[in-house]
Amino acid sequence: MYIKEFCLHNFRNYSDQTIEFQQGINLLVGSNGQGKTNALEGIYYLLTGKSYRVKRENELILWGKRNFYLQGSFIASDRLLKLESYYDSNKKVMKINQLACRRLSDYVGVVNAVFFSPDDLDIIKKGPMERRRFLDFLIAQVKPRHISLLNAYLKIIKQKNILLRQEKNLGLLKNQLFAWNEQLVDIGSKIITNRWEFTEILNHYCQPIFKKIFSNNDDISLEYHSLGRKSLNETLEIFPEILQKKMSQEMEKKAVLLGPHRDDLLINLNGRAARLYASQGQQRSLVLCLKLAEMEIIITKKGEYPILLLDDVLSELDEFRREYLLNYINCSDKQTIITMTGADKKIINDQIAVYQVFRGNIRREY
Ligand SMILES: Nc1ncnc2c1ncn2[C@@H]1O[C@H](COP(=O)(O)OP(=O)(O)O)[C@@H](O)[C@H]1O
Ligand SMILES: [Mg+2]
Repeated sequence: MYIKEFCLHNFRNYSDQTIEFQQGINLLVGSNGQGKTNALEGIYYLLTGKSYRVKRENELILWGKRNFYLQGSFIASDRLLKLESYYDSNKKVMKINQLACRRLSDYVGVVNAVFFSPDDLDIIKKGPMERRRFLDFLIAQVKPRHISLLNAYLKIIKQKNILLRQEKNLGLLKNQLFAWNEQLVDIGSKIITNRWEFTEILNHYCQPIFKKIFSNNDDISLEYHSLGRKSLNETLEIFPEILQKKMSQEMEKKAVLLGPHRDDLLINLNGRAARLYASQGQQRSLVLCLKLAEMEIIITKKGEYPILLLDDVLSELDEFRREYLLNYINCSDKQTIITMTGADKKIINDQIAVYQVFRGNIRREY
């Protein structure tokens, strides 16, 4: 898959910009604050309907304007696809080949991308939320229905929380909690099953990659930590009972205490939690490994290379892992868009397209 042409209108610091990309490597060069990350964020938004940096779309609109519009032409499965995304303060429209999509799950995963930036270290270092987000995003790219499940689940949690806070009549509260718990089990169990399945797939892909990029003597292992089980039927069996036992505590705390929104993807280095025990360098290698595994899983499931977006990561990697990554992307079937502050002479050759980014303008240099 690759992006041929990309247009941004009133998106972040771009008022009107059209860029033509090539297959292979595209390098965006510019000093800090010029708009390199904004351009990658635009591509990511066009493919996923979401920003990885902010929750509210209003922050993506060029200051002083009321709406933004993104458009891109892509080649995926040998077909030309036009994706469009329009936002103004009260509506969001996503289109594939001029047809508006009703649900995000109709849109996400049509063209795949893997995004990698230094902030991805948070997957290892921070809390379960970052790891769930990484896992959910990977699942959504190959099983878009996962997004609908997550949205339905969030609604249930929200309603259940409102109920726990507002309903004063205990009998009524118990009855209604019972009804919400049934839905929570139904949707929550499917989410757990998907996450369990993809944790195993990730684990399978990560192990050989980690040996190659780190060392033969060390190993990465991933585990899904959940109240549920691997099989959907087993989870459906045990989940209601666990929720029932927790009901009085939930009533006391007036909050939803159990469900896949509390689960975690455990990332271990040599059997110990990487978050606590791995060094900064080891954590960097682990996150590189997760991203390469994400690439490989999409390649296997979709039969095509996703677009790889590398935001400022080359400068963060040491010589060995940088070479590894450069060798990995150095193939004309794979499209990679890389940002960096100074053009690195080592990676520039006549196969690479180089662009200068300056104050919200992108110009192809050679
Ligand atoms: N909504 C917005 N409207 C206009 N400019 C913005 C908006 N959001 C961020 N910016 C500007 O974008 C610039 C940062 O762009 P970014 O792509 O992160 O830079 P870099 O080239 O370092 O990756 C900053 O100068 C910031 O002021
Ligand atoms: Mg940046």
